[in-house]
Amino acid sequence: MSTLDARSRGTGTLFVVAALTTLGAVILGSVVCATDSSAACPNWPGCYPGQIGPEAHLNPVLEFVHRVVAVSTGPLLLVAALLGLRDRNRLVRFAPWLALVGALVAGVLGMLTVTRGISKTAAAIDLGFSLVAMIAITLAAVLVLRGPATWRPRRAPLAWAAVGALFGFHILSIFVAGPGSLTRCVSWPVWRQLDADGTPVLQWLRLALAAVAVVLAVFTAVRALRRRDTRMIAAVVLLLIVTELILGLTVLAGGGAGTELKGLYAALAGAILGGLTWIATLSSTDPEKQLQSR
Ligand code: HEM
Repeated sequence: MSTLDARSRGTGTLFVVAALTTLGAVILGSVVCATDSSAACPNWPGCYPGQIGPEAHLNPVLEFVHRVVAVSTGPLLLVAALLGLRDRNRLVRFAPWLALVGALVAGVLGMLTVTRGISKTAAAIDLGFSLVAMIAITLAAVLVLRGPATWRPRRAPLAWAAVGALFGFHILSIFVAGPGSLTRCVSWPVWRQLDADGTPVLQWLRLALAAVAVVLAVFTAVRALRRRDTRMIAAVVLLLIVTELILGLTVLAGGGAGTELKGLYAALAGAILGGLTWIATLSSTDPEKQLQSR
């Protein structure tokens, strides 16, 4: 049931496109990291000095497509931020600006990653800002699609805790990772200690936080199956979680996974966070109030 008139339907579409593009940038960035494609395009903005496009190989193509999608988030988020100013909901007015700032910071640090390399702390700031951008614009897009509704985040504390735990876990992973370890990339653990990574204490902490995040995420998705408006996205998120767990506990735990599987593992992790944010936002709005206010 939609409350959108023709004008706001266009706005809704623009917000959803901006949210999906930002999610696409996060997923592709995670894949770039997990497939070790960062160095495949050593130049900026073109892939190589004197050549803009990438060679026809997986790694440079992934890195270049990530850049193109990431750069597209800028104008989309700016338009969403300007359109959002007309909205009565304070969050819709504010969140796209936060997303725009997040994408700009991620863009500058992404460029520095390519041109000179960055420290762990800068990498954590880079990832933090990209995830904040993705979460903020997803939240705004769902609110715009929902139309006038009461915003009650306290109705979905566990869903937001799942989003927060995954966010914290992905950032912590950067500090746990040893030199060159793919643990630094957005993904899930392979559920054991790794020789390539830092101190066992930090590694156990990371595994514990991941376990808490998984329990919260599964609980959130199973609960969301009961609501008509969250059922579809909850089913998708559950499928992604189960696939991610199977991959992590079987193929990747064995250590013999190829580039494609590592990329898939990272892509699923980004998609799970995006899906949970969608569920958390929908679960924080009050459809009954929405009906009464019409
Ligand atoms: C436009 C300029 C950008 C460039 C040149 C760029 C470049 C890169 C590179 C080289 C990596 C791999 C880092 C590594 O292997 O450690 C990366 C990862 C990533 N990028 Fe970008 N990026 C840009 C913009 C963005 C934007 C706007 C977003 C999202 C809003 C984003 C999200 C990500 C994410 C989530 C990762 C994965 C980080 C991780 O797994 O730790 N990037 N980016």
